[in-house]
Amino acid sequence: MDETVIREVAQLIVEAKGRTAALTGAGISVESGIPDFRSPGGLWERFNPMEYATIDAFESDPGKVWQMLRELSRVVTEARPNPAHRALARLEELDLLSGIVTQNIDNLHQAAGSKNVIEFHGNGARLRCLLCGHMEDARAAEARFATEFPPLCPYCKVALKPDVVLFGEAIPEDAGREAMRLVQRAAVLLVVGTSALVAPASYMPIVARKMGAALVEVNLEDTMLTRDYARYVLRGKAGEILPRLVAAVEAQRSAAGPA
Ligand code: APR
Repeated sequence: MDETVIREVAQLIVEAKGRTAALTGAGISVESGIPDFRSPGGLWERFNPMEYATIDAFESDPGKVWQMLRELSRVVTEARPNPAHRALARLEELDLLSGIVTQNIDNLHQAAGSKNVIEFHGNGARLRCLLCGHMEDARAAEARFATEFPPLCPYCKVALKPDVVLFGEAIPEDAGREAMRLVQRAAVLLVVGTSALVAPASYMPIVARKMGAALVEVNLEDTMLTRDYARYVLRGKAGEILPRLVAAVEAQRSAAGPA
């Protein structure tokens, strides 16, 4: 990735004066040790999502879905934010990033210090009872796994479900509304580590582009956005590219002097 493109994107971000937003997918957490879904070795290679990640599968056989969820929660529990998460948190700290719409359920943006994080697919840190709405902390429930798997609602005695959006479930209403508002206002949308295949999250970059935003794609590979929608394609690892982008932003800000 040559420095010229990094500097041009940095200039876009500085000139956008806070109207830069980000849409992130599993790729931003791969360097934290969490496999993504569709790359070789990804989660869906081991667990067919139509068998293990739909709300129907959960309701008919929660124990089976929990086998996949437990594998996912094991890697998520050990994962720590990587330089890509920290770079986006820094941009927000500089008042240059309005917020992040994330498809990830790993809580790593929040752990890196990002404040405005819209959890489009929920958050695996919480468990919920589908009958009575009882909520529990996922890590605390893991202590019960040896004697009670999957963890049950203490009141309804049905399996608790991680507060994540499974296939066939709706996006949380407030998350959908806030995400749309964020991307509609963006002058620049950073699209980081997503194959952009899953709706309605995949609509976000299209909406932003139609509203005149410049799309900047950070990914290892081409996606359906690359050819027709991305104005800049930063090919490579998010954990290497985003820190370089933020360094270029800081250099331009200090060169420009006090705002
Ligand atoms: N840096 C940048 N991009 C990366 C990296 C990396 N280090 N590693 C992988 N990627 C890219 C891959 O090239 C791929 O385009 O991240 C993308 C990951 O795509 P998916 O595995 O499809 O993950 P995602 O786009 O988040 O999936 C969306 O699908 O299964 C559902 O609910 C699940 O939220 C998920 C949704």
